[in-house]
Amino acid sequence: MDDSRRIAAADEVPEDGTLLFTVSEDGDRTEAILTRLDDGTIAAFSNYCPHWTDVRLDKGSGALVRNGELVCQKHGATFERDSGVCNFGPCEGAVLETIDVTVEEGSVLLTDDDYAFENLGASQEYDRSSGNQIGF
Ligand code: FES
Repeated sequence: MDDSRRIAAADEVPEDGTLLFTVSEDGDRTEAILTRLDDGTIAAFSNYCPHWTDVRLDKGSGALVRNGELVCQKHGATFERDSGVCNFGPCEGAVLETIDVTVEEGSVLLTDDDYAFENLGASQEYDRSSGNQIGF
């Protein structure tokens, strides 16, 4: 197993939420989420809403999952957790970007060649009171 691509233990990925992690693409850090589907498989998507792409679905403690769907809490768009398709809301028909992962020996591994794994959790410090990023 390639430890540099290990995101988390598969057991850490919730069915009723998401697990936030950070990847990089050509040096640019970006966030992604893992979620466990009803059949036990694990899917990964970009953490940004297609409606307003600076809005994060998971702000660090798990995205809202309601009736088995991911919910953007800004304007209430809902996304199918197996496909990432928005089936309701202002970005209906849009699709969350899928990130390729696999489970091997109880670990979730990043298999998407476009990205390098950086860390579990957020890509930077955020001001939790406003949801905006802190300027440095
Ligand atoms: S920002 Fe997600 S629904 Fe508007």
